[in-house]
Amino acid sequence: MGDYKKARLVLDKEYIIGTTDKRLFGAFIEHLGRAIYGGIYEPAHPLADEDGFRRDVLELVRELRVPVVRYPGGNFVSGYNWEDGVGPREQRPVRLELAWGVREPNTVGTNEFVTWARKAGAEVMLAVNLGTRGPDAARNLVEYCNHPGGSYWSDLRKAHGYPEPHEIKLWCLGNEMDGPWQIGRKTAEEYGRIACETAKVMKWVDPSIELVVCGSSGRGMPTFPAWEATVLEHTYEHVDYISLHTYLGNQENDTRNFLAKSLEMDEFIRTVVATCDYVREKVRSKKQINLSFDEWNVWYHSNEADKKVERWSLAPPQLEDAYTFEDALVVGCMLITLLNHADRVKIGCLAQLVNVIGPILTENLGPAWRQTIFYPYLHASRYGRGRVLQPVISSPCYDAKDYTDVPYLAAAAVAGEEREELTIFAVNRDTDQPLLLEARLAQFAGYQVVEHLVLEHEDLKARNTKEEPDNVVPHNKGEARMEEGFLRALLPKLSWNVIRLKKLPS
Ligand code: AHR
Repeated sequence: MGDYKKARLVLDKEYIIGTTDKRLFGAFIEHLGRAIYGGIYEPAHPLADEDGFRRDVLELVRELRVPVVRYPGGNFVSGYNWEDGVGPREQRPVRLELAWGVREPNTVGTNEFVTWARKAGAEVMLAVNLGTRGPDAARNLVEYCNHPGGSYWSDLRKAHGYPEPHEIKLWCLGNEMDGPWQIGRKTAEEYGRIACETAKVMKWVDPSIELVVCGSSGRGMPTFPAWEATVLEHTYEHVDYISLHTYLGNQENDTRNFLAKSLEMDEFIRTVVATCDYVREKVRSKKQINLSFDEWNVWYHSNEADKKVERWSLAPPQLEDAYTFEDALVVGCMLITLLNHADRVKIGCLAQLVNVIGPILTENLGPAWRQTIFYPYLHASRYGRGRVLQPVISSPCYDAKDYTDVPYLAAAAVAGEEREELTIFAVNRDTDQPLLLEARLAQFAGYQVVEHLVLEHEDLKARNTKEEPDNVVPHNKGEARMEEGFLRALLPKLSWNVIRLKKLPS
């Protein structure tokens, strides 16, 4: 395979980080921009179904096998009255939506979204408003959604045409409550108290639900990680997960630095895990809090355009990042990071899913297509479920503007849950040269490469557009083979790779 830089990987069947929770491959849809209106819902579209949902978008979402979708926000939820979005449509109010400076018509609300999610094959992860509201509205929403009947709110749901409870299992206690941009921002003490009291009554209505408390809205927040410690001290026994959010960008147009930024996500996870475990000791608990990475993606392309959005318009394009090939590599690195923390990160939500910083773009009354970042997410969702093996990596490294010792190789390995399958996800961060991956797979006798998918492109800034939806797509002509217990694979410069091995009958 020629004389290339070499990275070594050792995998042992017994060294398991953890089994992926299927919710690790989730996504997020907010009432924002054209995510709902013009994204998933467009009754006037020629492909709209009987409920007004775009069939073409549903098909793409199903292709991604999205297990769970967080809804309805995001910043939006901190000013949302959920009651506005249920009942007869003609009676629903149009509201000034302060988080994004638009008008919200409330044509789609909780019931419609649950209907959409069922069609998409996904569960709903519902967020409650802890910005302008509190425990009362939250417990009523749990009753409305999950109580079978015989009470005010559950009977109202029935009267609205939904006789069966929605059985929503996963709930977020607000959103990014530490952020100055948040409607009803709180200090860690204030939020910790209200989150605790809200969690109590929500679980009293339905003890089977799981709750996600808000962590910091980013690793760069001045109150991180003291925020996590204080909030958990108030809520530890009442919640199940703490949230993390990360958005990466390449404003400075420095590819090597951009590709290294996933290392921040890794550090972020390690610190939050450490903080959770510190509080566990402090409150003398036996319970473990896990992590919900419920917003992550690349986000920066649309920043300038968003400054020009007309105030109080209805479903204008907002946060419509048109993703490049380079972004897909970063998303690949982020997915690898999430997989390698499968022991503690149980929920992941790519933010978001349609139009708003999403892997799917649509045109109103027009087509829907796959952005570049669709592919690494698709591959991880399809082949990343199983036991994540500890990857022992020795890779040549480089220094970038903000990072030193950045390994050229980012990799994760997942052994299929039932079938004898092994998938290696790998990014070559080298901007100039291919990287030879040599993986010692001593215990994988009889395994052969069945597919080596590669996402590569000559132009780092290449995009998929309405006119050219297949400009950046993976091919399966990667060079990888098994030789005497070693996998040898050539990872082209700047590439996302999915190397799938299976034990073949001898
Ligand atoms: O996903 C876009 C926004 O990013 C969300 O509304 C908010 O939670 C985060 O700041």
